[in-house]
Amino acid sequence: MRFLIAGLAMLVATSVAAHDETSTHSHDSVAPAADASIVDKRVHRFKQSGAAIQSVFKEHLGADDFAAIAEAATLIADWADVMPDYFPAGSTSPGARDEIWADFDDFKSKAADNAKAARDLQQLALAGTDKGAIVAAAKKLGGTCKACHQSYRIKK
Ligand code: HEC
Repeated sequence: MRFLIAGLAMLVATSVAAHDETSTHSHDSVAPAADASIVDKRVHRFKQSGAAIQSVFKEHLGADDFAAIAEAATLIADWADVMPDYFPAGSTSPGARDEIWADFDDFKSKAADNAKAARDLQQLALAGTDKGAIVAAAKKLGGTCKACHQSYRIKK
C-alpha cells in the first residue's frame, strides 16, 4: 500500500502544470478540480492560508474583528494539521525543496508548530479580551510560516 501511494504521488507529481504566478496573491482562487494533483491541492491550501493571514494583518486587527481572526486562525490550523499528508515521498515540485523528504520529521514538527501557533491565536481571538496578546500571537504565527519557508520552500 505504501508503495502504491508513493507511486501514485510520483505519477501526479510529474504531471503538474506550471503554477500561475499571477494568481499567487489572489484571494478568490478557484478550488482545484477533484482529480487535481497533490501539488496543486497543497498550493491551493497554502494560497488560502496566505490570504487568511494577510486578512488578519491588513483588515481584521485594525477593525478589532476578533471573530474573523478566529476564523482565519482556524483555517490555517486545519491546514497545518494535515499539511504533511500533502507531501508524500516523491511529490517534488518547483516550490518545494528536496530537503523536506531528507528530514521529514523536522518538516512535520514545523507544521505542528504552525498548527499550535494558529490554535493559540484562535483561542485568544475567541476570548477577544486581550488585543496585545492577539497581535503577539498573530506575529508568532507568522514566524512559524517563515521558519518552515526558510528551510523548505523555494520562492518562485
Ligand atoms: C511545514 C512547512 C510549512 C509551513 C509551516 C508553512 N508553509 Fe507555506 N509553503 C511550504 C512549502 C514547502 C511550500 C511550497 C509548496 C509547493 O510549491 O509544492 C509553501 C508555499 C506557500 C505559498 C505559495 C503557494 C503558491 O502560490 O505557490 C504560500 C502563499 C504559503 N506557503 C503561505 C504560508 C503561510 C501563510 C503559512 C503560515 C500560516 C505557511 N505557508 C506555513 C511550507 C510551509
